[in-house]
Amino acid sequence: MPSELTVIVLAAGGGTRMKSKTMKVLHPVAGRSMIGHVLTAVRAMEPQRVVAVVGTQREQVGPHIQELLPDVVLAVQETQDGTGHAVRVAIEAAGTTHGTVVVVTGDTPLLRGETLAEFAADHEQSGRAVSILSGVVPNPFGYGRIVRDADGNVEGIVEEKDASDEQRAIQEINSGILAFDGAFLADAVHKITNDNAKGEYYLTDTVHLAREAGQTVGAHPIDDVMQTSGANDRAQLAELGREMNSRIVTQWMKDGVTVMDPATTWIEADVVLAPDVTILPGTQLLGTTVVGEDAVIGPDTTLKDCEIGVGARVVRTHGELAVIGDGANVGPFAYVRPNTQLGEGGKIGAFVETKNAQIGRGSKVPHLSYVGDAEIGEASNIGAGTIFANYDGEKKHRTKVGSRTKTGANNTFVAPVEIGDDAGTGGGTTVRRDVPSGALAVSAGPQRNLEDWKARKAGLSSKQTEDGPESR
Ligand code: UD1
Ligand code: CA
Repeated sequence: MPSELTVIVLAAGGGTRMKSKTMKVLHPVAGRSMIGHVLTAVRAMEPQRVVAVVGTQREQVGPHIQELLPDVVLAVQETQDGTGHAVRVAIEAAGTTHGTVVVVTGDTPLLRGETLAEFAADHEQSGRAVSILSGVVPNPFGYGRIVRDADGNVEGIVEEKDASDEQRAIQEINSGILAFDGAFLADAVHKITNDNAKGEYYLTDTVHLAREAGQTVGAHPIDDVMQTSGANDRAQLAELGREMNSRIVTQWMKDGVTVMDPATTWIEADVVLAPDVTILPGTQLLGTTVVGEDAVIGPDTTLKDCEIGVGARVVRTHGELAVIGDGANVGPFAYVRPNTQLGEGGKIGAFVETKNAQIGRGSKVPHLSYVGDAEIGEASNIGAGTIFANYDGEKKHRTKVGSRTKTGANNTFVAPVEIGDDAGTGGGTTVRRDVPSGALAVSAGPQRNLEDWKARKAGLSSKQTEDGPESR
């Protein structure tokens, strides 16, 4: 690791091809902004200082970077006059020219910390003024090409627009990640001119400046060139997203997770899975979701910021900010909304929606119910088709159900209301008043059967059916 390291992150460019109100580097890949991934890699190098160059929409980008890296130095580039100009602004803001300076771009989410650390260490050992992390690509269009002399020494970097036909055929490209001797760079950024096809100050001109000063320059092709790929438009963003996902899923399989169909499984960067988790096709694990050992998730399930216990089973479910206990069962077709907590061995069954609901150990809501703003004790069972009516049109209220209580089918619990322990309710009950422990609540009226109903209906005119209590 270099003795003193400054990292400059370039993020002032517009990213106009995204055609977005959101700045390019803020677009997410695998649940993190592109620049968030880059900063994670940068942080792994443990640099003494990080300078981020912001310009376009800096009121969006600046605070985001500061949130992820509080001790970052933000350098403002008022006009985007080129990468060389951006680095000059950064160096002025950094207030030091000692040691090694690594420049990275903000839109390469696949970049890894180890790659940067190795690159910086190699640069320092070599004593070069400039090191280029290059890459050999089948289609080099748009990149700066690495021009080497007959002995293979780097002569310079020539940009697409300035390149001759012969130079355009070169497949070794500048990834945009460069390492410099700090003192050389501080001097060189003042010597760069904008005498080129784009009229910009090119950072890449430092290469020939080093050569002119008799200093050494080297380029080192990276094997895994995807790590340096950036996204300029939405199609490339999707491509990087797919690649990142494939890398994450592969890593989890190496770590002992069974993934039946990697192509339809999406796992974001901050998800944590235990060994022997099984993921079935069509599953998305998002945000900070954590899944315990032996749990089986899917098929067709989306979980965002959820915590799933050991051995739990979650089938065809959409869940957010929910905690599912060990050995619990969820789904199929459950909608598990924020602040749902399901206890060990509990069940949220088919076509059940829950929100802000604490459902105790072993308690079950098996079928067709809405459980909102509720607390259910242990080993209770909620009958099919029960609605926890939590909203009176103005305010939300809570319902409490005790332990070992079994409620009938098709109930409505009109909150605020409390049903005690070991209690029960009849089918079709509308619970408006508290039910004491041990009691049975019934509210449906006695049943009446209208004898010969069908035959009488057939024999009567529609006029005659209008009145009389027995006509309905
Ligand atoms: C640059 C390199 C090119 C390399 C390519 C890799 C130069 C002159 N060219 O070209 O050799 O192959 O990256 O992707 O360096 N930026 C600023 N301020 C500016 C201009 C750019 O902060 O004034 C930032 C951009 O936000 C971006 C990065 O610098 O993160 C690269 O800028 P971009 O305009 O994309 O450079 P390229 O033309 O792609
Ligand atoms: Ca670019």
